[in-house]
Order: sequence, then C-alpha cells, then structure tokens
Amino acid sequence: MKKRILIIGACGQIGTELTIYLREKFGSHKVIASDIREGEATLMQSGPFEILDAMDYEAVQEIVIRYEITDVYLMAAMLSATAEKFPMKGWNLNMNSLFHVLNLAKDKKINKIFWPSSIAVFGPTTPKNDTPQRTVMEPSTVYGISKQTGERWCEYYNKRYGVDVRSIRYPGLISYKTLPGGGTTDYAVDIYHKALKHKKYICFLNAETTLPMMFMDDAIKATVNIMEAEKEKIKTRSSYNLSGMSFNPEEITASIQKHIPQFKISYEPDFRQAIADSWPQSIDDSEAHNDWGWKSEISLDEMTEIMLTNLKDTY
Ligand code: SER
Repeated sequence: MKKRILIIGACGQIGTELTIYLREKFGSHKVIASDIREGEATLMQSGPFEILDAMDYEAVQEIVIRYEITDVYLMAAMLSATAEKFPMKGWNLNMNSLFHVLNLAKDKKINKIFWPSSIAVFGPTTPKNDTPQRTVMEPSTVYGISKQTGERWCEYYNKRYGVDVRSIRYPGLISYKTLPGGGTTDYAVDIYHKALKHKKYICFLNAETTLPMMFMDDAIKATVNIMEAEKEKIKTRSSYNLSGMSFNPEEITASIQKHIPQFKISYEPDFRQAIADSWPQSIDDSEAHNDWGWKSEISLDEMTEIMLTNLKDTY
C-alpha cells in the first residue's frame, strides 16, 4: 500500500517541524497537515491542510478515508501547565483523540500510529536519575495521568487487536522555529529569546531544577526513525524512554553567557516548580538504542550555538 500521512495537531511546536520534515522526505502531497486552526505561513504553503478537531471522530474518519491515509501522527495535546488549569478539558482532549485513532487502526482504516508520550508519565516516587524504561510510575499531573493511561491503552490495542502504534516519551523540546505552548519545560526556549532581546530572564523554575531536554532536530529524527523502523524491532508498545541532555536553569544560563556575557537570570518559581520537581532529572534510553538504534546527537552547548545564531536576526 502506498504511504499517505496525516498529522493531527500539525500547527503546534512539534507538528510544524515534523510536517515540513516529512514533506521533504516523502513529498508534499503525501503529507496532509491538520489542526483546529491554521498555522504559520511556511507550514500552510508547504502542502495540503485541513481544519480538524481531533475530538471529532466523524471528522477524523472522513479525512482518513478521503485521503486514503496509512500513517497518523497524533500531535494534538494539552501540555502539563495548561492541563493543571483545565483538568477535564486536558483529559478529554488527550484521551478522546487517542481513542479515535486507535479505533480507526483497530478497524483497519489506518496502518500505523505515532502517539507521543512524555517524561510526565513519571512522578515523585520514580527514581530521578537514569530513570529506567520500566519503573515506579505514579504521575501527579493531569497531563502525566493522561499520558500514562494512553500508554496502557496503546499497549492494550497492540496486544489485543494488533494495532501498530509506536510511541516515545519526549523530554522537554527546544527549537528556534516554533514556540512551545503550556508546558513546564518551555522556559528553556523562552530563555534564548529573552537573552537576545533583553539580556535578562526571569525564570519560573529555580536554579537547581534539572530536567531531561532535547533539541528539536533530534526529536524529529527519533519520531520518524521509530515510525520507519521494521515492525519487529518495536518491542515496547507502551512508549520508549528517550534521552537527549539534562540541564538546569543555571547551566543553560552559563551556556548562553559564553556568547552573551552580560546575560543575567533571576528566579521567581511558580506553580510549575512542583510539576518539574515531580519529574526525573535524567533518562535511561538504552532500550530505544538497542531496539531501533536511537542515539541523540546534539549537546547543550551545540544547541545554544544553533539557537542563538538562528534567533539573532529576529531581534
Ligand atoms: N514539555 C512537556 C511539558 O512541559 C513535557 O512533555 O508539559
């Protein structure tokens, strides 16, 4: 069967870059972008786009059938900080959209699903360093509960109905092309913008809050690699741990100061501190490495250089 991809949530932080990457790889007309609202011009002009509410099963099904979709990347979700403000809305969006695509795959209307999980599946009782693939998981946020539940359902649909669903537990993602929205790790993007614009940044997490992070290019590569890997290699059908780098606000500040020595950070932790404190500091991703060959390539200092070089002209 010929490949035809649908990206749901194509206008978000990951979706925008993923859509453009997949269009370059497979051809524009093979990759249908969809979102509840239109996105930035580069994305909108790069190929077919449909307005789609991920919660509307009939609408998702109609697009899947009309375009003869084979692979779905479900990138629509409410992230950790926003979901704490709107718990039911976050739960409904994150769960219903997943059930819709799982059921379409169960009914053989699509072949393959990518669904993102997150480091938020872990909680305060999880070992914080080199967090293993399989360990204590008692997430304390709505977002984390929705992702952990989603992982259980993905595994269930794979075992019970043979659904080919593949998933990664993303760490915090950093990009110069798109902005994150409503996450706890968002500071690590904002800090680069503020460093260039104001030479100072007020951080909503404290100096010592170490979190797992990753540059977007690595995340896109991991996403497409797991989807393109041979089926037999994907042994874990809940979600794979994925590791890039780990740093805290003090360390990213030092990395920026190598380029902007006058840059200063101050700290005003808010409700997001408790979310961050419940998450791991570093992740053991050896299963992703062994099963489908994952390896992260970009370090903190390399990322800082790429971010500052590319954002410089904006300010
Ligand atoms: N970056 C996400 C968040 O902060 C974690 O998956 O919510």
